[in-house]
Amino acid sequence: MSQDTWSAVDRYVTDLLLGGDADIEQSLERSAAAGLPPIAVSAPQGRLLWMLARLARARRILEIGTLGGYSAIWLARALPPGGTLVTLELSEHHATVARDNLARAGVGDRAQVITGPAAESLAALQREGVEPFDLVFIDADKTGYPDYWRASLALSRPGTLIVADNVVREGQVTDASSSDEAVRAVRETLALAAAESRVRATVLQTVGAKGYDGLCLALVE
Ligand code: SAH
Ligand code: DHB
Ligand code: MG
Repeated sequence: MSQDTWSAVDRYVTDLLLGGDADIEQSLERSAAAGLPPIAVSAPQGRLLWMLARLARARRILEIGTLGGYSAIWLARALPPGGTLVTLELSEHHATVARDNLARAGVGDRAQVITGPAAESLAALQREGVEPFDLVFIDADKTGYPDYWRASLALSRPGTLIVADNVVREGQVTDASSSDEAVRAVRETLALAAAESRVRATVLQTVGAKGYDGLCLALVE
């Protein structure tokens, strides 16, 4: 088993089940042209995010880590009329590209891109006492995950689904003595999830165009 095989299967699945989606494909092209790194979720993962949001009947979605708005488009598309996506991004440049992509995909009206360090934006949302979110997608800087986890819980209600990307890290997640800051942070986040009596969590390992990684799924009870 190799990266070539995983990429070929993602291409096959994308062509078969997800192809011909101009808004989605063009958002990636515009992000690449604007110099953004190619680290958005894959198309099959994007469809999964959309599906989870639909299954959760999410009306309010929070995303931490916007990049060029690729996953944001998938999530915003799952919203019912009147629904809202709030997505947090550090980089003004990334946010500008994302707003353009969201608008061109026809979901700009329901997506709010907030710039600044996510920890500060999350603290502001808590101070404002916003309504809880129905689904949270954590996908920004990995060292921030423990803080993002705590803030996500604070902005949740029973029934909220919290999804965190990139928690397996080519299997390094099992290395308790890792000196990699990202590995240490995802381990801390998963330990917080394990210790939290309000949630039931799992981790799904994934392979695909983005290599070997995995998603944490946590349901607030
Ligand atoms: N969810 C996106 C990918 C996000 S990549 C998708 O799948 O399409 C991670 C993003 O997090 C990058 O755009 C990066 O600029 C942003 N980021 C990094 N540190 C951050 C911080 N402290 N606060 C908010 N966003 C941050
Ligand atoms: C990186 C970030 C991601 O969210 C991801 O899914 C893959 C890679 C990165 O920062 O390299
Ligand atoms: Mg990611």
